[in-house]
Amino acid sequence: MSIAELLEGKRVCVCGGAGGVGKTTTSAAIALGMAAQGAKVAVVTIDPANRLANALGLKRLENEPSRIDPERLGQPGLELTGELWAMMLDPKRTFDELIDRVAPDPGRAAEIKRNRVYEQLSTAVSGSQEFTAIAKLYELEERGEFDLLVLDTPPSRSALEFLEAPVRLSSFLEGRALRAFMGPTGAGMRIVGRGAAPLLAALRRVTGVDLLTDLSTFFGLLGDMTSDFSLRAARVEEILRAPTTAFLLVTSPQHDAIDETLWFRRTLQDNGLPFAGVVVNRVHHDLLGDRDAGDVERLLGRSMNADLASRIARNFYDYHVLARRDEQSLTRLAKELDGHLLLAVPQLDDDVHDVGGLLAIRRYLFTSGSERKRPIDSVVA
Ligand SMILES: Nc1ncnc2c1ncn2[C@@H]1O[C@H](COP(=O)(O)OP(=O)(O)OP(=O)(O)O)[C@@H](O)[C@H]1O
Ligand SMILES: [Mg+2]
Repeated sequence: MSIAELLEGKRVCVCGGAGGVGKTTTSAAIALGMAAQGAKVAVVTIDPANRLANALGLKRLENEPSRIDPERLGQPGLELTGELWAMMLDPKRTFDELIDRVAPDPGRAAEIKRNRVYEQLSTAVSGSQEFTAIAKLYELEERGEFDLLVLDTPPSRSALEFLEAPVRLSSFLEGRALRAFMGPTGAGMRIVGRGAAPLLAALRRVTGVDLLTDLSTFFGLLGDMTSDFSLRAARVEEILRAPTTAFLLVTSPQHDAIDETLWFRRTLQDNGLPFAGVVVNRVHHDLLGDRDAGDVERLLGRSMNADLASRIARNFYDYHVLARRDEQSLTRLAKELDGHLLLAVPQLDDDVHDVGGLLAIRRYLFTSGSERKRPIDSVVA
């Protein structure tokens, strides 16, 4: 099976996984591939490497998908029968826009945005990217302008963070945290208040921030907006759980990464989220077959001196140790996945920083097994 078959009839594809495994690259390559096949696709990327963003003509400030002109991708042979739209997520802007949308009037929105708790919340490193990525997904899905939305996800220490952060943050916004804190009688506040008072007072002296006042002002301002947050949260959950959504997990072939991926997949399934498959990125392919280093040395020896041939053969053989390791990982994963999509993308010679690189990745995601193999003779010859 290829990605194209998997995504047939899907409206949302979420690419999750641990930090640095290739989520952004995979998301962009999937979007490009689906647009090439006729779909109107938008990809929401998070912190793409500068050069990749430039290659796609993405500007940080937009926070809205913009259409990518295939003429400007610098790939004359590339035909997009569909449309490729892309954006870079700006968490702070997405947060602000959300407040604008749910606030009863512009004055209240402005006041909330000036509040110090809000400032902290909307720029916090942990949680706000996750929350706003989901908020953006919701907004784009409600507008219904695209056949498919591909959502990149932020680097998470644990892959599960991505799913938990929006829930944590929206229940905070719904005021549960504060209501529990204050309680109907205010008892909680008195108890916590007594213990925390000296600390809060010290904080206020040093930083000038009056945390408690700011917090209660913040929740006062949110007021009845919190029910709107709950409604949105429920709708978002519906989108994420829908059979038209596909969660793809991206991973590297290392043993621990595979373990984490299997664990993440179980968590998705336990939570009723539509796990669809795994992309194992940066795989070292077996180019040796059943040959050994000696065979490679002899092959190379035909076209270079013996010393050089021996050194290259050794190097090639070392690479092959990684290929063996990766093959074991893939076999183990395939067994565990019982029938779910498993795609291997090789380690390319260079970083993926342009459309050419994305097209190379696309080739592995969009073609089926047998076409991907490269025999050793074509490499050595
Ligand atoms: N198959 C590959 N071959 C070579 N380089 C790759 C491959 N896949 C990704 N890369 C490179 O690895 C780096 C990390 O990839 P990418 O940014 O897609 O990962 P990520 O999972 O989005 O990272 P983060 O968690 O930090 O957002 C990039 O420099 C990218 O160009
Ligand atoms: Mg990324």
